Amino acid sequence: MIWSNTYEGISEAAEALRKGNLVALPTETVYGLGADALNPDAVAAVFRAKGRPADNPLIVHIADASEMEKYAYPNEWAYRLAEEFWPGPLTVILPKRDIIPSIVSAGLDSVALRCPAHPVARELIRVSGCPIAAPSANISGKPSGTTAEHVLHDFKERIAGVIDGGPCACGLESTVVSLLGDHPILLRPGFVTPEQIRQVIPSLTVAKAVVEELGKDEAILSPGLAHRHYAPSCETIGLIGSAENAAEYIASHATEGPYAVMCFDGEESFFCADRIVTYGHRGTPAEQGERLFDALRFLDEASVCRIYINAECGDGVGLAVYNRLLRSCGFRMIRV
Ligand code: TXA
Ligand code: MG
Repeated sequence: MIWSNTYEGISEAAEALRKGNLVALPTETVYGLGADALNPDAVAAVFRAKGRPADNPLIVHIADASEMEKYAYPNEWAYRLAEEFWPGPLTVILPKRDIIPSIVSAGLDSVALRCPAHPVARELIRVSGCPIAAPSANISGKPSGTTAEHVLHDFKERIAGVIDGGPCACGLESTVVSLLGDHPILLRPGFVTPEQIRQVIPSLTVAKAVVEELGKDEAILSPGLAHRHYAPSCETIGLIGSAENAAEYIASHATEGPYAVMCFDGEESFFCADRIVTYGHRGTPAEQGERLFDALRFLDEASVCRIYINAECGDGVGLAVYNRLLRSCGFRMIRV
């Protein structure tokens, strides 16, 4: 079922949600696979539909910052971040209240909260009267869904339906900040950048796992950081450097079998591959973020043995793009 992005469509979707069904919804970051966060059976169905490991908690979406207190114990930082960045692409982790079923938080005593900016998401929360537990709408481990078509590709009959809100504006999942303990930590980079958050919390640190593969004995701060993510099914290799150097590397390393290249706009002519897709201009991470998952999904459908991704390191939103690409490649990122 595809619901239109109208009051009628949203009302029908809200009804399905209240009955305990799964409803995919657009947000400004990526589509979410939503369930009533206070209904443990509905939340269990989210884990089943995605094939999501039970140790990976979900984000609870609320319509207004004032609802934080219903589900969590917010501290001063939470109020200040909410004032600055909500509604928007930022998730905060706080000590949870008992009203949140433990399946939502995967047994942890904390809960992730986000107040999305997308008008359809907010209207759905408001009309249904449910806080919505929603992970990104993709099969676990695969690139997130940024259009209603992506969602239907992954879930078809396994959900009550999707509200079509067109392509997502950010295209990358929200920034996740843990506010547990005395030292706030950025667990996942997104469109709200570490630099912006430091305007509010100067002591913010960035979790090592954002840009590095953790050793087996290192503490994992967020279960989501431990799982393989955003990954096409074939071997995927990242190449950091100019298009010229990336093309040279591929020419001297590509062995048997067809391969694909994901590169920056206007640089296609450097490469010779069985399939080439671009994901925005070099140096424009916001544009890259918006197109990244669509490009990865497109290549995942191509019959190739290997995907090479020409990438760049960056700060700001560039850190978020780099983080997703690192995981797509299983940390196989080579400087060329
Ligand atoms: O933009 C987004 O955040 C999207 C849209 C739908 O809102 N949602 C999303 O959810 O990306 P998901 O489930 O794909 O990612 C949630 C991340 C995971 O890495 C998870 O481990 C982490 O947040 N997380 C959730 N609750 C947590 C908690 N209590 N402690 C630590 N990490 C948590
Ligand atoms: Mg996800």
